Amino acid sequence: MERLAVGLIGCGTLSSYAHGPALRKLERMYEFRAIADIDPITLNAFSKRFGVDRKYTDYKEMISSEDLDIAIVATPTPTHEEIGLYVLNHGVNLFMEKPFALTLEGARNMIEASERQGRALQVGHCVRFWPGYVQIKEQMSNGDYGEPLLAKAHRWGTMPAPLWYRDPAQSNGVGLDVAIHDLDYLRWLIGEPKSVYAQGRFEGKLPMTVQAVLEFEGDAIAYIDASWDFPPSWRFATFFEIIGTKGMAQMDSRESTTLEVYTGHTSSASSPREDDAYTRQLAAFWEPARGGKPVLPATDSYKSLELALALNKSLNGAGRVELKREIAQ
Ligand SMILES: NC(=O)c1ccc[n+]([C@@H]2O[C@H](COP(=O)([O-])OP(=O)(O)OC[C@H]3O[C@@H](n4cnc5c(N)ncnc54)[C@H](O)[C@@H]3O)[C@@H](O)[C@H]2O)c1
Repeated sequence: MERLAVGLIGCGTLSSYAHGPALRKLERMYEFRAIADIDPITLNAFSKRFGVDRKYTDYKEMISSEDLDIAIVATPTPTHEEIGLYVLNHGVNLFMEKPFALTLEGARNMIEASERQGRALQVGHCVRFWPGYVQIKEQMSNGDYGEPLLAKAHRWGTMPAPLWYRDPAQSNGVGLDVAIHDLDYLRWLIGEPKSVYAQGRFEGKLPMTVQAVLEFEGDAIAYIDASWDFPPSWRFATFFEIIGTKGMAQMDSRESTTLEVYTGHTSSASSPREDDAYTRQLAAFWEPARGGKPVLPATDSYKSLELALALNKSLNGAGRVELKREIAQ
């Protein structure tokens, strides 16, 4: 198997629990060649922990000095567009963390650069790789649940520690940063929604909790609830439920039996936890980075960003936002 050389830009919270361990597990596919972070303390600690000696405080220097096949970008969201464009315009395949960018224009610019340069671009929508969510998607595609009627998605956590999350201009709040995971998954599972209506709790201008209803073509509606309002002692938790005309599934990260499926008069319970999503999503980038077909096209992730921004618009007082009208404008 050809090993691709990877450079990681941003060695903070997410990279420490997700990308660093995933790259170490995927050594047959990837050579973890170099790392970059503007903070030398973070950089040195990460270098020691993951055994990566080639380190840079300037990511541009890393791109010009190392012959990289892939750069993973896990820096604060407002830096995504500038760093992503630099990576792609220097001929390196890009794995970009979610949210793709703060604006649709930023995401569009990166998609155009990837097409112009003939380089792969995948956004870190990791929920599409969590085993339980994948099982529900497969069973939905097999028709086990029939036509979708109702979905419910919760993503409950505490405020992340890095200070940039507290600035609405930088993180855009819990809608863009957290709810986007379930928006992306619902689009994958059910299809494109017709409308979104959101309300929330703010601290100053920062959305801390969002509660939203989405209407889909046909009869389906979904309720999502994402929050940073839980106390620091709370352990991050997710809940997902889909009810269709023939059956349903319910998944709760707080239960030891995480996934329950009910179809007709039978039910089953399982705990699909094996193999983490961060490893699976990076493994899925190997083929596209060698010129193969994208597993998760960036144009698809663009639509999830578009939906998250429509949710934010509703949250900020626009009421029910009709998505077809939005897209046509
Ligand atoms: N997929 C997921 O489930 C998930 C989870 C958490 C965060 N995220 C996303 O990942 C990104 C990073 O989040 P985080 O919580 O790790 O943030 P963080 O603040 O903990 O880490 C970001 C790191 O990037 C570094 N950095 C900042 N600007 C830089 C630059 N110009 N060049 C190089 N390094 C730079 C910082 O010094 C810091 O170490 C965000 O976009 C966030 O929304 C995704």
